[in-house]
Amino acid sequence: MPIVIAHRGASFALPEHSRQAYEQALLDGADGLECDVRLSRDGHLVLLHDRLLDRTSAGRGPASKRTLSELRELDLLTLDELIEMARGAGRPIQLMIETKHPNRYGQAVEYRLTALLRRHGLTRPDPDDQVRVTVMSFSPLAVRRMRQLAPALPRVQLMELIPPGLKPSRLPFGARIAGPGLSLVRRRPELIRRLKACGHQVYVWTVNDLADVDLVMSLGVDGIITDRPGAVREHLLSR
Ligand code: G3P
Ligand code: CA
Repeated sequence: MPIVIAHRGASFALPEHSRQAYEQALLDGADGLECDVRLSRDGHLVLLHDRLLDRTSAGRGPASKRTLSELRELDLLTLDELIEMARGAGRPIQLMIETKHPNRYGQAVEYRLTALLRRHGLTRPDPDDQVRVTVMSFSPLAVRRMRQLAPALPRVQLMELIPPGLKPSRLPFGARIAGPGLSLVRRRPELIRRLKACGHQVYVWTVNDLADVDLVMSLGVDGIITDRPGAVREHLLSR
């Protein structure tokens, strides 16, 4: 059975990247938690998908222009807090951390992320630690930086379209996991079969309809990233 990863928490019914959404995902039995990370003006990693604060908070403008304390007032969760929540689950949790827009910040996001993970003892898989980290990006540049900075961490190359020159036998920069979007999977199911045949793991995002769960199951994917971890898990268990 593929593992179930809660996309921005249980974000179908609850505010994305919120404490409530992650608590619900843990209650729903999610195997993992997905999050997007961005830097505050003073260099802290907060959980936020968009560059701007507008859609998901009472704030306005780019998050990168606000300090951590300003972002906390807007109820943004930090990556430190999410790690503590995952540790409190009392069972193994895979934390899937996506770095956004690496070009905008130079190397700062990946450096800060590595330093933070080092502080938590999470830069390499540890059998005694129930939290396991996987890093992800659409940007091959970010995947390469994470290979340099924390080579022991599993890396996901996310893809919305097939990257130019992709050889299914060799993902960019030693990524072990392919992360295609659901629309790509629907259009090119044979790509998934080839990636699997080449020995890669495949995690698909964002799979919310149960008919799509059946589709990706039929292709043998390893991970399902979803806004509805409870419903997807129940469906998988009922099959
Ligand atoms: O888990 C991968 C997925 O989150 C990538 O797309 O836009 O939701 O960050 P997005
Ligand atoms: Ca994401």
